[in-house]
Amino acid sequence: METRELGVAVIGAGRIGSLRARLAAGHPAVRFLAVSDLDAGKAARLAKTAGAGCSSGDNDEVIGHPRVNAVIVSTSEHEHLAPVMRALELGKPVLVEKPIALTLEDADRIIAKAGETGTPLHVGYAQRFKRRYLSAKDQIREGRLGEITALAGRACNTRAQGIEILRRSATATPVVDVLTYWVDVAGWFLEGVRPREVTARGHGTVFRAAGFDVNDGTFALITYENGAVVSLGVYFALPAHAPQLGMGVRIEVYGTEGALILNDDHTDELLVTNKPIPHAYIPGLEFGTAFLSSSTPGNWHLGDYWGPVADESRVWLDHLSRGRPCPMATAADARRTLEITLAIEESARTGKSMRLAG
Ligand SMILES: NC(=O)c1ccc[n+]([C@@H]2O[C@H](COP(=O)([O-])OP(=O)(O)OC[C@H]3O[C@@H](n4cnc5c(N)ncnc54)[C@H](O)[C@@H]3O)[C@@H](O)[C@H]2O)c1
Repeated sequence: METRELGVAVIGAGRIGSLRARLAAGHPAVRFLAVSDLDAGKAARLAKTAGAGCSSGDNDEVIGHPRVNAVIVSTSEHEHLAPVMRALELGKPVLVEKPIALTLEDADRIIAKAGETGTPLHVGYAQRFKRRYLSAKDQIREGRLGEITALAGRACNTRAQGIEILRRSATATPVVDVLTYWVDVAGWFLEGVRPREVTARGHGTVFRAAGFDVNDGTFALITYENGAVVSLGVYFALPAHAPQLGMGVRIEVYGTEGALILNDDHTDELLVTNKPIPHAYIPGLEFGTAFLSSSTPGNWHLGDYWGPVADESRVWLDHLSRGRPCPMATAADARRTLEITLAIEESARTGKSMRLAG
């Protein structure tokens, strides 16, 4: 099979951008890597670790670099738009982290630019690539569930991680930034069926006491055009010392021919030790007890990264270099998901049900 050589720019040298850069550097089709960050020093440090040939504090410089023909945007949630638009203007395929944007207007600008320039864009809903959800999707595709009529899901995490996200992007609420993974998965499982209405309620005091006007817990009911009912909830204010290194999740899918029960709470993998266990996402936070593989993006072993972000990055690079299939969220999927999560927040705020354009 023919392989197209890739030059990859990674914009945002934070936690996920650093992973993406190191993963891209290890992909056989990648011959050039460039990184940028608002903080040029951070970009330079990542360039050194990942072996990038160029680093900058100026995003446009690396996006426009003549050797770059693919762009990963891993900036903070409210900073996705400008680098995504720049890459699309230059016709360079984009992988942008979830959520695609924080407003529908920005998502629409991205979709319009991608259409106008004929540039592919995928969105990093990496949880699709956790093996249990990929194989669930496969069973659904094979028809073993029949028609999906109901789905229930719940994600939880600690207040320490919630506050870490809100400090970075105050409007990236647990619904818009985290429940979004499971709204995406529900939409992926129900592929081809449009969501119609959202009703949600939320409550919370923990984040408000910390200065963020955000609910600790929000639970939503989404109805689809075929009558399917989807109940999704998020609780993000567990005590900081809860043994989560990332999200705990439970998803149940019910269809006319079968059901899937996906217990993703990691309670079956417990590490207890007298030595400090570092939290991969929150610098300085240490535990004595941890649910082992609960780190949401994955984990390192002997210099290789294992887990959903590793598989997703490889799939995207394989897609660009060798034309392999790419079951990542499309811009349209991500826009629909954003519409639902914003409607969940609005319904929780007003107490009213929200109709969706879908
Ligand atoms: N797929 C996953 O498992 C996963 C996990 C966590 C976060 N994310 C997503 O990844 C993105 C980044 O999250 P993170 O945890 O890496 O955050 P982070 O705070 O660790 O990193 C963000 C980086 O972007 C830089 N930045 C901000 N604005 C910029 C701009 N305009 N230009 C260049 N650099 C800029 C910041 O300086 C920082 O270094 C978010 O969209 C988040 O939702 C995905």
